[in-house]
Amino acid sequence: MSAHSELQYLEEALRILARGFRDLPGGDGQVQSPRLREVLNETALKLQDNFPYPHPLYAGQMLKPPHPVARLAYMMALYLNPNNHALDGGRASSAMEKEAVANLAHLFGFEKHLGHLCASGTIANLEALWVARHARHRGRVLASSQAHYTHARMCEVLQLPFQDLAVDAMGRMDINALEDALQRGSVSTVVATLGTTALGAVDPLHEILKLRERYGFRVHVDAAYGGYFTLVETLDANARNAFAATGQADSIVVDPHKHGLQPYGCGCILLRDAAEGRFYKHDSPYTYFTSAELHLGEISLECSRPGAAAVALWATQRLLPMVRGGEFARGLTHSHQAARALHQHVSEERCYLAGPVPELDIVVWALTARGRAEAGRRTQAVFDAAAQRQLHLALLRVPGELAAAWWPALECDAESVTALRSCLMKAEHRDWLPRIISILDDAAKEAAGA
Ligand SMILES: Cc1ncc(COP(=O)(O)O)c(C=O)c1O
Repeated sequence: MSAHSELQYLEEALRILARGFRDLPGGDGQVQSPRLREVLNETALKLQDNFPYPHPLYAGQMLKPPHPVARLAYMMALYLNPNNHALDGGRASSAMEKEAVANLAHLFGFEKHLGHLCASGTIANLEALWVARHARHRGRVLASSQAHYTHARMCEVLQLPFQDLAVDAMGRMDINALEDALQRGSVSTVVATLGTTALGAVDPLHEILKLRERYGFRVHVDAAYGGYFTLVETLDANARNAFAATGQADSIVVDPHKHGLQPYGCGCILLRDAAEGRFYKHDSPYTYFTSAELHLGEISLECSRPGAAAVALWATQRLLPMVRGGEFARGLTHSHQAARALHQHVSEERCYLAGPVPELDIVVWALTARGRAEAGRRTQAVFDAAAQRQLHLALLRVPGELAAAWWPALECDAESVTALRSCLMKAEHRDWLPRIISILDDAAKEAAGA
Protein backbone atom coordinates (compact mmCIF):
# COMPACT_ATOMS: atom_id res chain seq x y z
CA MET A 1 0.00 0.00 0.00
CA SER A 2 3.07 2.25 -0.20
CA ALA A 3 2.35 5.41 -2.17
CA HIS A 4 5.86 6.85 -2.05
CA SER A 5 6.77 6.37 -5.70
CA GLU A 6 3.51 7.78 -7.05
CA LEU A 7 3.65 10.85 -4.80
CA GLN A 8 6.80 12.08 -6.53
CA TYR A 9 4.70 12.53 -9.71
CA LEU A 10 2.18 14.54 -7.73
CA GLU A 11 4.86 16.94 -6.44
CA GLU A 12 5.97 17.67 -9.98
CA ALA A 13 2.42 18.11 -11.27
CA LEU A 14 1.56 20.41 -8.37
CA ARG A 15 4.53 22.64 -9.20
CA ILE A 16 3.17 22.93 -12.75
CA LEU A 17 -0.31 23.71 -11.44
CA ALA A 18 1.05 26.40 -9.10
CA ARG A 19 2.70 28.19 -12.03
CA GLY A 20 -0.77 28.92 -13.39
CA PHE A 21 -1.46 31.03 -10.29
CA ARG A 22 1.95 32.61 -9.73
CA ASP A 23 0.70 36.18 -10.20
CA LEU A 24 -1.31 35.99 -6.99
CA PRO A 25 0.19 37.74 -3.97
CA GLY A 26 1.39 35.81 -0.87
CA GLY A 27 0.64 32.35 0.46
CA ASP A 28 3.10 29.60 -0.48
CA GLY A 29 0.68 27.06 1.04
CA GLN A 30 3.43 25.32 3.06
CA VAL A 31 2.02 23.23 5.89
CA GLN A 32 4.16 23.08 9.04
CA SER A 33 2.06 21.66 11.80
CA PRO A 34 3.19 18.95 14.21
CA ARG A 35 -0.40 18.56 15.37
CA LEU A 36 -1.58 17.95 11.81
CA ARG A 37 1.04 15.23 11.46
CA GLU A 38 -0.07 13.64 14.71
CA VAL A 39 -3.72 13.66 13.70
CA LEU A 40 -2.91 12.26 10.27
CA ASN A 41 -0.95 9.39 11.81
CA GLU A 42 -3.78 8.73 14.23
CA THR A 43 -6.12 8.63 11.22
CA ALA A 44 -3.89 6.04 9.54
CA LEU A 45 -4.14 3.87 12.65
CA LYS A 46 -7.92 4.13 12.58
CA LEU A 47 -7.96 3.11 8.91
CA GLN A 48 -6.13 -0.11 9.71
CA ASP A 49 -9.50 -1.49 10.77
CA ASN A 50 -10.53 -2.42 7.23
CA PHE A 51 -10.46 -5.44 4.97
CA PRO A 52 -7.47 -5.17 2.59
CA TYR A 53 -9.56 -3.95 -0.35
CA PRO A 54 -6.75 -3.17 -2.81
CA HIS A 55 -5.04 -6.58 -2.38
CA PRO A 56 -5.86 -9.39 -4.86
CA LEU A 57 -6.73 -11.70 -1.93
CA TYR A 58 -9.65 -9.38 -1.28
CA ALA A 59 -12.08 -11.04 -3.69
CA GLY A 60 -15.38 -10.40 -1.92
CA GLN A 61 -17.67 -7.44 -2.48
CA MET A 62 -17.75 -5.11 -5.46
CA LEU A 63 -14.67 -3.06 -4.58
CA LYS A 64 -11.80 -2.07 -6.81
CA PRO A 65 -8.96 0.35 -6.05
CA PRO A 66 -8.68 3.49 -8.17
CA HIS A 67 -5.87 3.60 -10.69
CA PRO A 68 -2.87 5.63 -9.45
CA VAL A 69 -3.50 8.23 -12.16
CA ALA A 70 -7.04 8.72 -10.85
CA ARG A 71 -5.84 8.96 -7.26
CA LEU A 72 -3.12 11.47 -8.13
CA ALA A 73 -5.26 13.59 -10.45
CA TYR A 74 -7.99 13.67 -7.81
CA MET A 75 -5.53 14.74 -5.11
CA MET A 76 -4.08 17.42 -7.36
CA ALA A 77 -7.52 18.81 -8.14
CA LEU A 78 -8.23 19.03 -4.40
CA TYR A 79 -5.64 21.80 -4.14
CA LEU A 80 -8.17 23.88 -6.11
CA ASN A 81 -11.29 21.96 -5.08
CA PRO A 82 -13.41 22.98 -8.07
CA ASN A 83 -17.19 22.65 -7.96
CA ASN A 84 -18.62 21.41 -11.24
CA HIS A 85 -22.04 22.82 -10.60
CA ALA A 86 -21.19 25.85 -12.70
CA LEU A 87 -18.40 27.19 -14.85
CA ASP A 88 -18.02 29.84 -12.18
CA GLY A 89 -16.88 27.09 -9.80
CA GLY A 90 -14.89 24.83 -12.08
CA ARG A 91 -14.13 25.94 -15.60
CA ALA A 92 -11.38 23.48 -16.53
CA SER A 93 -12.88 20.58 -14.63
CA SER A 94 -16.31 21.15 -16.26
CA ALA A 95 -14.69 20.97 -19.70
CA MET A 96 -12.96 17.75 -18.61
CA GLU A 97 -16.27 16.37 -17.38
CA LYS A 98 -17.98 17.08 -20.71
CA GLU A 99 -15.17 15.33 -22.56
CA ALA A 100 -15.07 12.30 -20.26
CA VAL A 101 -18.86 11.92 -20.34
CA ALA A 102 -18.90 12.24 -24.15
CA ASN A 103 -16.39 9.38 -24.28
CA LEU A 104 -18.72 7.25 -22.17
CA ALA A 105 -21.70 8.15 -24.37
CA HIS A 106 -19.68 7.10 -27.39
CA LEU A 107 -18.73 3.83 -25.68
CA PHE A 108 -22.42 2.93 -25.39
CA GLY A 109 -23.30 3.97 -28.93
CA PHE A 110 -25.14 7.24 -28.20
CA GLU A 111 -24.67 9.48 -31.24
CA LYS A 112 -25.98 12.50 -29.35
CA HIS A 113 -26.38 12.68 -25.61
CA LEU A 114 -26.93 14.71 -22.52
CA GLY A 115 -25.14 13.53 -19.42
CA HIS A 116 -22.95 14.26 -16.46
CA LEU A 117 -21.21 12.70 -13.50
CA CYS A 118 -22.91 12.35 -10.15
CA ALA A 119 -22.41 10.90 -6.71
CA SER A 120 -23.19 7.25 -7.36
CA GLY A 121 -25.16 4.63 -9.23
CA THR A 122 -28.09 5.18 -6.90
CA ILE A 123 -28.25 8.91 -7.58
CA ALA A 124 -27.75 8.36 -11.32
CA ASN A 125 -30.62 5.83 -11.38
CA LEU A 126 -32.80 8.21 -9.35
CA GLU A 127 -32.15 10.91 -11.90
CA ALA A 128 -32.86 8.56 -14.82
CA LEU A 129 -36.20 7.58 -13.25
CA TRP A 130 -36.98 11.22 -12.50
CA VAL A 131 -36.44 12.08 -16.18
CA ALA A 132 -38.52 9.01 -17.14
CA ARG A 133 -41.34 10.27 -14.95
CA HIS A 134 -41.29 13.65 -16.69
CA ALA A 135 -41.08 12.04 -20.12
CA ARG A 136 -43.71 9.33 -19.75
CA HIS A 137 -45.81 10.27 -16.76
CA ARG A 138 -46.68 7.82 -14.06
CA GLY A 139 -47.09 4.22 -15.28
CA ARG A 140 -45.44 1.27 -13.56
CA VAL A 141 -41.66 0.89 -13.51
CA LEU A 142 -40.61 -2.72 -14.09
CA ALA A 143 -37.27 -4.26 -13.16
CA SER A 144 -36.17 -7.83 -12.48
CA SER A 145 -36.16 -9.26 -8.96
CA GLN A 146 -32.35 -9.24 -9.26
CA ALA A 147 -32.19 -5.51 -10.07
CA HIS A 148 -30.46 -3.30 -7.51
CA TYR A 149 -32.63 -2.79 -4.44
CA THR A 150 -32.50 0.99 -4.77
CA HIS A 151 -34.76 1.01 -7.86
CA ALA A 152 -37.77 0.12 -5.73
CA ARG A 153 -36.69 2.66 -3.11
CA MET A 154 -36.19 5.45 -5.64
CA CYS A 155 -39.61 4.71 -7.14
CA GLU A 156 -40.98 5.27 -3.66
CA VAL A 157 -39.19 8.62 -3.51
CA LEU A 158 -40.63 9.56 -6.89
CA GLN A 159 -44.02 8.09 -6.05
CA LEU A 160 -43.95 5.80 -9.05
CA PRO A 161 -45.52 2.33 -8.87
CA PHE A 162 -42.81 -0.35 -9.01
CA GLN A 163 -43.08 -4.02 -9.89
CA ASP A 164 -40.38 -6.65 -9.93
CA LEU A 165 -40.31 -9.46 -12.45
CA ALA A 166 -39.19 -13.08 -12.25
CA VAL A 167 -35.75 -14.06 -13.49
CA ASP A 168 -34.62 -17.16 -15.39
CA ALA A 169 -32.07 -19.67 -14.06
CA MET A 170 -29.21 -17.37 -15.12
CA GLY A 171 -30.65 -14.57 -13.01
CA ARG A 172 -31.67 -12.54 -16.09
CA MET A 173 -35.04 -10.84 -16.51
CA ASP A 174 -37.53 -13.45 -17.73
CA ILE A 175 -38.75 -12.08 -21.02
CA ASN A 176 -42.10 -13.96 -20.77
CA ALA A 177 -42.73 -12.44 -17.35
CA LEU A 178 -42.02 -9.04 -18.89
CA GLU A 179 -44.47 -9.62 -21.73
CA ASP A 180 -47.18 -10.77 -19.28
CA ALA A 181 -46.72 -7.56 -17.31
CA LEU A 182 -46.82 -5.46 -20.48
CA GLN A 183 -50.06 -7.08 -21.57
CA ARG A 184 -51.65 -5.88 -18.35
CA GLY A 185 -50.87 -2.30 -19.48
CA SER A 186 -49.80 1.00 -17.88
CA VAL A 187 -46.05 0.39 -17.94
CA SER A 188 -43.97 3.53 -18.27
CA THR A 189 -40.40 2.28 -17.94
CA VAL A 190 -38.49 -0.99 -18.02
CA VAL A 191 -35.14 -1.08 -16.22
CA ALA A 192 -32.70 -3.51 -17.86
CA THR A 193 -29.74 -4.37 -15.67
CA LEU A 194 -26.57 -5.13 -17.61
CA GLY A 195 -24.63 -6.81 -14.83
CA THR A 196 -26.70 -7.52 -11.72
CA THR A 197 -25.13 -6.85 -8.36
CA ALA A 198 -25.45 -10.36 -6.98
CA LEU A 199 -24.59 -12.48 -10.01
CA GLY A 200 -23.34 -10.21 -12.78
CA ALA A 201 -26.26 -11.44 -14.91
CA VAL A 202 -27.04 -9.45 -18.05
CA ASP A 203 -30.71 -8.80 -18.84
CA PRO A 204 -31.47 -9.46 -22.54
CA LEU A 205 -31.70 -5.82 -23.59
CA HIS A 206 -31.95 -6.79 -27.27
CA GLU A 207 -35.12 -8.82 -26.51
CA ILE A 208 -36.54 -6.07 -24.31
CA LEU A 209 -36.11 -3.60 -27.16
CA LYS A 210 -38.12 -5.86 -29.47
CA LEU A 211 -40.99 -5.68 -26.98
CA ARG A 212 -40.64 -1.90 -26.86
CA GLU A 213 -41.51 -1.81 -30.56
CA ARG A 214 -44.75 -3.63 -29.79
CA TYR A 215 -45.78 -2.11 -26.48
CA GLY A 216 -44.04 1.28 -26.37
CA PHE A 217 -42.29 2.05 -23.10
CA ARG A 218 -39.14 3.75 -21.97
CA VAL A 219 -35.98 1.67 -21.52
CA HIS A 220 -33.50 2.57 -18.83
CA VAL A 221 -30.26 0.58 -18.67
CA ASP A 222 -28.64 0.15 -15.29
CA ALA A 223 -25.06 -0.70 -16.23
CA ALA A 224 -23.65 0.78 -13.02
CA TYR A 225 -21.47 -2.25 -12.41
CA GLY A 226 -21.38 -4.03 -15.78
CA GLY A 227 -21.24 -1.21 -18.35
CA TYR A 228 -17.53 -1.24 -19.10
CA PHE A 229 -17.73 -4.93 -20.10
CA THR A 230 -19.01 -3.70 -23.45
CA LEU A 231 -15.28 -3.55 -24.29
CA VAL A 232 -14.72 -7.27 -23.68
CA GLU A 233 -14.73 -9.42 -26.77
CA THR A 234 -15.05 -12.84 -25.14
CA LEU A 235 -18.51 -12.49 -23.61
CA ASP A 236 -21.24 -15.04 -24.36
CA ALA A 237 -23.86 -14.29 -27.01
CA ASN A 238 -26.52 -12.93 -24.63
CA ALA A 239 -24.20 -10.38 -23.03
CA ARG A 240 -22.65 -9.45 -26.38
CA ASN A 241 -26.07 -8.83 -27.93
CA ALA A 242 -27.28 -6.88 -24.92
CA PHE A 243 -24.23 -4.60 -24.91
CA ALA A 244 -24.46 -4.15 -28.68
CA ALA A 245 -27.97 -2.71 -28.18
CA THR A 246 -27.21 -0.04 -25.56
CA GLY A 247 -27.28 2.73 -28.18
CA GLN A 248 -31.08 2.23 -28.47
CA ALA A 249 -31.81 2.70 -24.76
CA ASP A 250 -33.37 5.95 -23.57
CA SER A 251 -30.99 6.34 -20.65
CA ILE A 252 -27.93 4.57 -19.26
CA VAL A 253 -26.21 4.61 -15.90
CA VAL A 254 -22.60 3.54 -15.50
CA ASP A 255 -20.41 3.89 -12.42
CA PRO A 256 -16.81 4.84 -13.11
CA HIS A 257 -16.30 4.23 -9.37
CA LYS A 258 -16.98 0.52 -9.87
CA HIS A 259 -15.15 -0.80 -12.94
CA GLY A 260 -13.78 2.52 -14.22
CA LEU A 261 -10.86 2.70 -11.76
CA GLN A 262 -12.20 5.82 -10.00
CA PRO A 263 -12.46 6.79 -6.32
CA TYR A 264 -15.96 6.68 -4.86
CA GLY A 265 -18.23 9.55 -5.72
CA CYS A 266 -18.26 8.95 -9.47
CA GLY A 267 -21.47 7.76 -11.10
CA CYS A 268 -22.65 8.82 -14.55
CA ILE A 269 -26.02 9.29 -16.22
CA LEU A 270 -26.49 9.48 -19.98
CA LEU A 271 -29.69 10.45 -21.80
CA ARG A 272 -30.04 9.67 -25.50
CA ASP A 273 -32.37 12.59 -26.22
CA ALA A 274 -30.56 15.82 -25.43
CA ALA A 275 -33.91 17.68 -25.57
CA GLU A 276 -34.78 16.07 -22.22
CA GLY A 277 -32.59 18.77 -20.72
CA ARG A 278 -35.83 20.81 -20.66
CA PHE A 279 -37.00 18.89 -17.57
CA TYR A 280 -34.18 20.39 -15.54
CA LYS A 281 -35.05 23.98 -16.18
CA HIS A 282 -34.56 26.14 -13.13
CA ASP A 283 -33.39 29.65 -12.25
CA SER A 284 -30.35 30.10 -10.11
CA PRO A 285 -29.80 33.69 -9.02
CA TYR A 286 -26.30 32.86 -7.72
CA THR A 287 -24.22 30.85 -10.10
CA TYR A 288 -24.38 31.13 -13.86
CA PHE A 289 -22.54 34.36 -14.56
CA THR A 290 -19.11 33.84 -16.06
CA SER A 291 -20.23 32.24 -19.30
CA ALA A 292 -23.25 31.94 -21.57
CA GLU A 293 -22.16 28.34 -22.29
CA LEU A 294 -24.04 25.42 -20.72
CA HIS A 295 -23.25 25.00 -17.02
CA LEU A 296 -23.50 21.38 -15.90
CA GLY A 297 -25.68 22.42 -12.97
CA GLU A 298 -28.35 23.31 -15.54
CA ILE A 299 -28.67 19.64 -16.50
CA SER A 300 -28.20 17.83 -13.22
CA LEU A 301 -30.36 17.02 -10.24
CA GLU A 302 -27.62 17.70 -7.71
CA CYS A 303 -26.11 21.13 -7.14
CA SER A 304 -22.48 20.99 -5.91
CA ARG A 305 -20.43 18.17 -7.45
CA PRO A 306 -16.71 17.43 -7.07
CA GLY A 307 -14.71 18.74 -10.00
CA ALA A 308 -11.93 16.45 -8.73
CA ALA A 309 -13.98 13.40 -9.79
CA ALA A 310 -14.15 14.71 -13.36
CA VAL A 311 -10.43 15.50 -13.37
CA ALA A 312 -9.60 11.97 -12.19
CA LEU A 313 -11.85 10.34 -14.78
CA TRP A 314 -10.51 12.50 -17.59
CA ALA A 315 -6.90 11.67 -16.67
CA THR A 316 -7.71 7.95 -16.47
CA GLN A 317 -9.35 7.91 -19.89
CA ARG A 318 -6.33 9.77 -21.26
CA LEU A 319 -3.90 7.17 -19.90
CA LEU A 320 -6.12 4.17 -20.55
CA PRO A 321 -8.39 4.91 -23.52
CA MET A 322 -11.62 2.90 -23.59
CA VAL A 323 -10.92 0.95 -26.75
CA ARG A 324 -11.26 -2.73 -27.56
CA GLY A 325 -7.97 -4.54 -27.20
CA GLY A 326 -6.44 -1.68 -25.16
CA GLU A 327 -4.93 -2.00 -21.71
CA PHE A 328 -8.14 -0.96 -19.94
CA ALA A 329 -10.20 -3.53 -21.88
CA ARG A 330 -7.57 -6.19 -21.20
CA GLY A 331 -7.95 -5.65 -17.45
CA LEU A 332 -11.68 -6.38 -17.72
CA THR A 333 -11.02 -9.40 -19.92
CA HIS A 334 -8.68 -10.75 -17.24
CA SER A 335 -11.43 -10.37 -14.65
CA HIS A 336 -13.86 -12.22 -16.90
CA GLN A 337 -11.33 -14.99 -17.47
CA ALA A 338 -10.61 -15.26 -13.74
CA ALA A 339 -14.33 -15.66 -13.03
CA ARG A 340 -14.71 -18.34 -15.69
CA ALA A 341 -11.70 -20.23 -14.33
CA LEU A 342 -12.94 -20.10 -10.74
CA HIS A 343 -16.37 -21.28 -11.88
CA GLN A 344 -14.74 -24.14 -13.76
CA HIS A 345 -12.85 -25.16 -10.63
CA VAL A 346 -15.89 -25.15 -8.34
CA SER A 347 -17.84 -27.09 -10.99
CA GLU A 348 -15.22 -29.84 -11.02
CA GLU A 349 -14.72 -30.28 -7.26
CA ARG A 350 -17.29 -32.49 -5.55
CA CYS A 351 -17.24 -30.48 -2.35
CA TYR A 352 -18.77 -27.45 -4.11
CA LEU A 353 -22.10 -26.64 -5.73
CA ALA A 354 -21.49 -24.28 -8.63
CA GLY A 355 -23.90 -21.48 -9.53
CA PRO A 356 -24.41 -20.36 -13.15
CA VAL A 357 -21.54 -19.73 -15.54
CA PRO A 358 -20.54 -16.09 -14.85
CA GLU A 359 -21.53 -13.70 -17.60
CA LEU A 360 -19.12 -11.02 -16.30
CA ASP A 361 -16.79 -11.40 -13.30
CA ILE A 362 -18.95 -12.51 -10.35
CA VAL A 363 -18.91 -16.16 -9.23
CA VAL A 364 -21.41 -17.81 -6.88
CA TRP A 365 -21.13 -21.25 -5.32
CA ALA A 366 -21.99 -23.12 -2.14
CA LEU A 367 -20.77 -26.17 -0.26
CA THR A 368 -22.20 -29.61 -0.97
CA ALA A 369 -24.64 -30.90 1.64
CA ARG A 370 -27.87 -32.90 2.01
CA GLY A 371 -30.07 -29.86 2.52
CA ARG A 372 -30.11 -26.08 2.12
CA ALA A 373 -29.58 -25.32 5.80
CA GLU A 374 -26.49 -27.52 6.09
CA ALA A 375 -25.08 -26.14 2.81
CA GLY A 376 -25.46 -22.66 4.32
CA ARG A 377 -23.68 -23.63 7.56
CA ARG A 378 -20.80 -25.21 5.64
CA THR A 379 -20.55 -22.21 3.36
CA GLN A 380 -20.33 -19.90 6.35
CA ALA A 381 -17.57 -22.09 7.84
CA VAL A 382 -15.54 -21.90 4.61
CA PHE A 383 -16.07 -18.16 4.43
CA ASP A 384 -14.65 -17.82 7.97
CA ALA A 385 -11.77 -20.25 7.38
CA ALA A 386 -10.80 -18.45 4.15
CA ALA A 387 -10.82 -15.07 5.93
CA GLN A 388 -8.49 -16.53 8.59
CA ARG A 389 -6.10 -17.27 5.71
CA GLN A 390 -6.47 -13.71 4.33
CA LEU A 391 -8.74 -14.69 1.46
CA HIS A 392 -11.76 -12.44 1.74
CA LEU A 393 -14.92 -13.59 -0.03
CA ALA A 394 -18.51 -12.42 0.26
CA LEU A 395 -21.76 -14.20 1.13
CA LEU A 396 -25.00 -14.20 -0.83
CA ARG A 397 -28.49 -15.32 0.13
CA VAL A 398 -29.67 -17.27 -2.93
CA PRO A 399 -33.48 -17.09 -3.17
CA GLY A 400 -35.44 -20.37 -3.23
CA GLU A 401 -36.36 -20.22 -6.95
CA LEU A 402 -32.74 -19.90 -8.03
CA ALA A 403 -31.50 -22.47 -5.51
CA ALA A 404 -34.11 -24.94 -6.84
CA ALA A 405 -32.97 -24.35 -10.42
CA TRP A 406 -29.26 -24.60 -9.67
CA TRP A 407 -29.17 -27.26 -6.98
CA PRO A 408 -32.35 -29.37 -7.31
CA ALA A 409 -30.88 -32.21 -5.24
CA LEU A 410 -30.63 -30.07 -2.09
CA GLU A 411 -33.39 -30.85 0.40
CA CYS A 412 -35.68 -27.84 0.78
CA ASP A 413 -35.37 -27.39 4.55
CA ALA A 414 -34.86 -23.62 4.29
CA GLU A 415 -36.26 -20.89 2.05
CA SER A 416 -32.89 -19.77 0.72
CA VAL A 417 -29.29 -20.96 0.61
CA THR A 418 -26.33 -18.99 1.89
CA ALA A 419 -23.66 -19.16 -0.82
CA LEU A 420 -20.19 -17.78 -1.41
CA ARG A 421 -19.84 -14.88 -3.83
CA SER A 422 -16.65 -13.50 -5.31
CA CYS A 423 -16.30 -10.33 -7.40
CA LEU A 424 -13.03 -10.81 -9.27
CA MET A 425 -12.85 -7.17 -10.31
CA LYS A 426 -9.13 -6.59 -10.28
CA ALA A 427 -7.13 -7.34 -13.40
CA GLU A 428 -4.56 -9.10 -11.15
CA HIS A 429 -7.17 -11.61 -10.01
CA ARG A 430 -6.43 -13.74 -13.05
CA ASP A 431 -2.78 -14.22 -12.09
CA TRP A 432 -3.65 -14.70 -8.45
CA LEU A 433 -6.28 -17.32 -9.15
CA PRO A 434 -4.10 -20.40 -8.42
CA ARG A 435 -3.34 -18.91 -4.98
CA ILE A 436 -6.99 -18.02 -4.40
CA ILE A 437 -8.10 -21.55 -5.32
CA SER A 438 -5.47 -23.16 -3.15
CA ILE A 439 -6.57 -21.10 -0.09
CA LEU A 440 -10.23 -21.78 -0.85
CA ASP A 441 -9.68 -25.55 -1.08
CA ASP A 442 -7.65 -25.57 2.16
CA ALA A 443 -10.42 -23.63 3.87
CA ALA A 444 -13.01 -26.11 2.54
CA LYS A 445 -10.94 -29.06 3.85
CA GLU A 446 -10.54 -27.45 7.24
CA ALA A 447 -14.27 -26.68 7.44
CA ALA A 448 -15.15 -30.25 6.42
CA GLY A 449 -12.86 -31.64 9.16
CA ALA A 450 -14.23 -29.34 11.87
C1 LIG B 1 -26.39 -2.77 -10.90
C2 LIG B 1 -26.21 -1.74 -9.82
N1 LIG B 1 -26.98 -0.64 -9.85
C3 LIG B 1 -26.86 0.32 -8.92
C4 LIG B 1 -25.97 0.20 -7.88
C5 LIG B 1 -25.87 1.28 -6.85
O1 LIG B 1 -24.68 1.98 -7.04
P1 LIG B 1 -24.01 2.86 -5.89
O2 LIG B 1 -23.56 1.89 -4.84
O3 LIG B 1 -22.90 3.56 -6.58
O4 LIG B 1 -25.05 3.77 -5.37
C6 LIG B 1 -25.16 -0.95 -7.80
C7 LIG B 1 -24.22 -1.13 -6.69
O5 LIG B 1 -23.61 -2.15 -6.51
C8 LIG B 1 -25.28 -1.93 -8.81
O6 LIG B 1 -24.53 -3.04 -8.79
